[in-house]
This record gives sequence, structure tokens and C-alpha cells, in this order.
Amino acid sequence: MPLGQDRAPLFEALQAHLRDERVRLHVPGHKGGRGAVRFLATAFGPELARLDLTELPGLDDLHSPEGPIAEAEALAAEAFGAAKTFFLVNGSTAGVLAMMLATASPGEPVYVPRALHRSLLSGLILTGAVPVYLTPRVDEQSGLPLPPFPGDIAEAGRRSPGGRAVFLVDPTYHGLCADLARLGDEAAAVGAQLCVDEAHGAHFGFGPALPARSLSFERVAAAAQSLHKMGAALTQSSLLHLAPGGLDPERVRAALAAVQTSSPSYVLMASLDLARRFMAGEGPAVFERTARLMGECGRSLSGLPGLRVFRRPCGPRGQDPLKLTLIVDAPGDARELSRELAAGRGIHSELADQRTILFVAGPGTTASDLERLTAGVREYARRAAPGEHGAATRTGDVSPAADHAGLEHAGLGHLPEQAVTPREAFFAPVEPVALEEGFRRVAAEAVVPSPPGIPVVMPGERLDRETIDVLRRLRQAGTHCQGGGPGLSWIRVLA
Ligand SMILES: Cc1ncc(COP(=O)(O)O)c(C=O)c1O
Repeated sequence: MPLGQDRAPLFEALQAHLRDERVRLHVPGHKGGRGAVRFLATAFGPELARLDLTELPGLDDLHSPEGPIAEAEALAAEAFGAAKTFFLVNGSTAGVLAMMLATASPGEPVYVPRALHRSLLSGLILTGAVPVYLTPRVDEQSGLPLPPFPGDIAEAGRRSPGGRAVFLVDPTYHGLCADLARLGDEAAAVGAQLCVDEAHGAHFGFGPALPARSLSFERVAAAAQSLHKMGAALTQSSLLHLAPGGLDPERVRAALAAVQTSSPSYVLMASLDLARRFMAGEGPAVFERTARLMGECGRSLSGLPGLRVFRRPCGPRGQDPLKLTLIVDAPGDARELSRELAAGRGIHSELADQRTILFVAGPGTTASDLERLTAGVREYARRAAPGEHGAATRTGDVSPAADHAGLEHAGLGHLPEQAVTPREAFFAPVEPVALEEGFRRVAAEAVVPSPPGIPVVMPGERLDRETIDVLRRLRQAGTHCQGGGPGLSWIRVLA
């Protein structure tokens, strides 16, 4: 029997608790934003501080739920088509870590994409598993990472048999979706469970305008979704779903207890409850409308000089219609466009590299937001077009796209030698060396251009010419990177 998606049991329990004004002689110390800390209520509105409660009678316990949190998770499982759903207050990061801790063991192969998010890297460090990379693939025009193709998991399984888990990032940051039916069959054939980092796909499956969600594919064992990214929850609020017969729920629960705080925010958890209620109710209509508006926006920008709309469906599920990526013909211009939109028009994109700029819509996007975007990009294209107002003509010197694909993604197609596991590298004695002196040394740390947050080097990899070259180019371009010394002046290697 359906559970009643119009309810929000956790939010309702919090409201019931707030109905009587109580003396709060329990944590948190702000006591609902009263007395000397009224500034919290003034700064954020009185409800936020009042709702910031803790495990009190009637409010349940995230790590062992039996009351409103259990009910809210059951409703989420129903809405997202899962056998079991866990609330996450530390983002999909916690979900990815838990999936990895539940499926991989020290020294065991685990099949992962090279274009992985750092949460997967942390999972490798925590478990001591050995990454076996699926063939890295990039789109030649944009330089953006592509999802794996059918055949890639089977090939990785032949290269390094015995792995018990495959991790996929689906959709990619730019909204590309893999053929999960065929890849799922391949994962089953190599004896591995298919775990999906679906951080960017929490909205999938809510209506026909959107691609099917990963859990609708029979072979998918588990998926982590950031409801704060594409759904309607507050930042950090995410879900981890298990398919029937997928990962062992008790093992996953134990892993989550290890990686999540023992003081979960009720504000974040209640936002998950409310976001699920919204997505299961109005969600499909709102997403359909947003997808239509984004489609119109993309079409109106597609013929502009010097710009192309990125279209690269990689399988039957197509591409996320809520993401719009523009490829800018002249290198460096995508960041200029991003700066111009922000400074001149107050329009902030999700991320821009040398070559591409990504705009992300969501259920909160309005028609007027997209009208402003269209006007801003049109104005930029008009000024950058040849002969207009004597502006620098960038479209005339377009070199072959692959030559200036976004530097931030450079090196993605390259797989250096894995000398030791990420975990061994993490715990080994290390020393900093100048980039140029790092040749043939083993990296102790990841270097991650951010955005997009995809490592160029993973800990344990031997630094070869190609990798050093990419790092030098990143340094020259002044690209912000996590890892490496300030401005990539040095890199930590195994001593
Ligand atoms: C591909 C991918 N996976 C996982 C994450 C982590 O998600 P969260 O920020 O919800 O922890 C991100 C965040 O950007 C991501 O891009």
C-alpha cells in the first residue's frame, strides 16, 4: 500500500515539538537562537535556529531510526524506487564512501572511472582497494569526460579479474548518461556489484522529461544522490539508495555510522523530507517545465557565432535537459564569458573551464532567469563576433578543437603507471619536490583542478612526462588546484 507521499513525517515531528515552548537544557548551545545568541534568529530567520534540534524524545535517531526518520526514509525509498534509503547529512560523499566500504576490501580490485570525484578517491584510501580504471574517454570537441561505453567493464574485468564492485559516475557533471542496462549486464558477468555515484541525478526519473534514474535498471545495486544539487534540499542533504538484493543494509549502516557525524542536522534532514514530498508531488510537472525552458534557451543560443551547444548523448538515456553546456570556440573565452555574465549581469554559472561553460537549472529556476541568461550570452556573442565594434575577433583563429580542449580536463585520456595503491601512498613517508623534479617519482597526493574536481594525478601514480606536462600547463594558466603547493609550486611524492 502506498505510504502517502503528501506527508513529511520528520518535518511534522519537528513542528509538533516546537508547538510548546520548552526549556532547552540540551545541545545545541544556541537554544533555538535565544538570549545572547538572538543574532542567529536575526541573521537566518527565527525558524531556522528553532528547528535546529537534536535527538530528543519523539525526534528519532538517524543512526538507528525507528520513528519519524525511519518513516521519512521509507517514503523516500518509495519515491525513488529503492528497497532501502538512508538520509545523508554529509552529502553524496558519505554515500560514496559507504558504498565503497560495503563492497571493497584491502588489496582487492575495484573498477572505477578515471574521471572520478574525490569522494571515490577517499573511498580507495579508506578501504585500501586497488583502482582498476575503466578506459578513460573524452569528447574531442569539448575535452569533457564521457561516461563508460559498453565493453569497458568487461575489458577492465579481463585486465584485472576478481573485483566485487564497479563504481560509475552517472550522470557526469555535464549531464551525460551511460547505457546502464548493458553496463549492468557486464558488471554482473564479471561478478561485480554496480554502485552509482548519481550525485548529479537526484531528479532523474521524476517525469518523462528526464532520463531514467539508475535504480530503474535491474543490475544497479546502490546509488548515492545529492538532493541538494538537482533536487530541492539544502546543501549537504543527500540520499543513499539500495536496490532489492543489492548491498547488505546492515553493512551499509555500519559504514555510514563511521563516516557521518553523530550530531546530524535536523534542518538538513527535514529538508530531505520536504524535498522528497515536493519531488514526488509537483516534481514531474516542475521538472517538465524547467526542461522545456532550458531546451528553448539552448535552441536560442545554438546559432550564435563562436558558440556551440554541447550535445553528446551516449546511450538510450540521452542527456540531462536541465544542464546546458556551451562550447566556446576560442580558448580561454569560456572563463571570460563566465566572468562577464557574473560581473555585468549577476548571472553565475556552475563552472567554466577554458573551453566550456556549464549552466545548471533546477526546480527553483524561473523563466526570467533563463531570459536573462539568453540576453547575456547573446550580447557577449554579438560583441565577440568578427567586425563588431572592433572587438577582438576570436572566431577567426579557431584551431582544431582537441588542441585547446579545456585544460582542466587535460590528461584525462592518459593513464599513468599505478606504482602503489592510493592507501599505501597516503600513509607512506613523503617529501615535497618541485614539479620538474617529480619526474619518475610516485605521487603521494592527488592534484585536482577545481572545478571540475577530477584528479589529474592520483596518489600512488608514477609521475611521467605527460602528467608533469599537464601540471606545468595548469600552473602556467593559474588554474586553481587542490593538492600540490600554492600555485602548484611543488608536489608531495613518496620519500
Ligand atoms: C560526481 C560527484 N560525486 C560526488 C560528489 C559529492 O557530492 P556531495 O557534494 O553531495 O558530497 C560530487 C560533488 O560535487 C560530484 O560532483
